[in-house]
Amino acid sequence: MSQQSEPIVDIQGLNKWYGALHVLNDVDLTVASGACVVVCGPSGSGKSTLIRCVNGLGSYQKGTLRLAGTTLGVNARETAAARRQTGMVFQSFNLFPHLTVLSNCTLALQRVAGRSRAEAEHIAMSHLEKVRIPEKAKSYPGQLSGGQQQRVAIARALCLNPRLMLFDEPTSALDPEMIKEVLDVMVALARDGMTMICVTHEMGFAREVADQVVFMDGGCILDRAPARDFFGGSGHPRSRHFLNTVLKH
Ligand SMILES: Nc1ncnc2c1ncn2[C@@H]1O[C@H](COP(=O)(O)OP(=O)(O)OP(=O)(O)O)[C@@H](O)[C@H]1O
Ligand SMILES: [Mg+2]
Repeated sequence: MSQQSEPIVDIQGLNKWYGALHVLNDVDLTVASGACVVVCGPSGSGKSTLIRCVNGLGSYQKGTLRLAGTTLGVNARETAAARRQTGMVFQSFNLFPHLTVLSNCTLALQRVAGRSRAEAEHIAMSHLEKVRIPEKAKSYPGQLSGGQQQRVAIARALCLNPRLMLFDEPTSALDPEMIKEVLDVMVALARDGMTMICVTHEMGFAREVADQVVFMDGGCILDRAPARDFFGGSGHPRSRHFLNTVLKH
């Protein structure tokens, strides 16, 4: 019972420096199971650094990070197991160009999760259907639009059955007409109860599904509020200013 009520992510006093540059400054963040948290803020504010710490791509010097009930960095095997509970989607898709869409999705299922090829293909097809692109299973990434590739990247991450999905500006490399198809998939995921941390400046998305919006600047979380309050204009002057700039575009 206590396992269930514990937040999926519990970050306390996280600090990271690159040399003299203090890129995460006493960051506290908890994400409850099933919640969708949107992280926004100006370029260089530490958004990517923060979510890279959550899935183990980045190190930190101070603070604690609990992920799915495990404090990272205490026991190597438990840390690796906790990190496998996260799926990550990047701005630049990062699909393997020499593999078909289906093989991109089945690779980790076979190599990491030890599934047979038939099982892996069955699981992969179910996720390709979820992101509405099963007909491209035999195509190569280079034959797909950016929006389609990003949906495949989401399906690939879902194949390993993550408890937490991390998105780092998943639509910012896309042409405007493709942004919606990716956001629609993310909205459906959030409504399905997936726990998500999304770095995005798509404020329509944030309004629609975010339980909490977090505003970062200079490595600090300056503002955090339920989406309704965040967009209600009652927050930190710096985040109000940022919001005005973003919403003008
Ligand atoms: N490998 C690195 N070595 C040194 N400094 C780095 C490194 N990676 C990031 N930084 C610095 O850390 C700070 C935070 O970077 P980060 O990528 O987290 O910002 P961000 O909020 O994601 O920005 P953007 O909106 O441009 O993606 C920046 O000042 C950046 O220059
Ligand atoms: Mg970034």
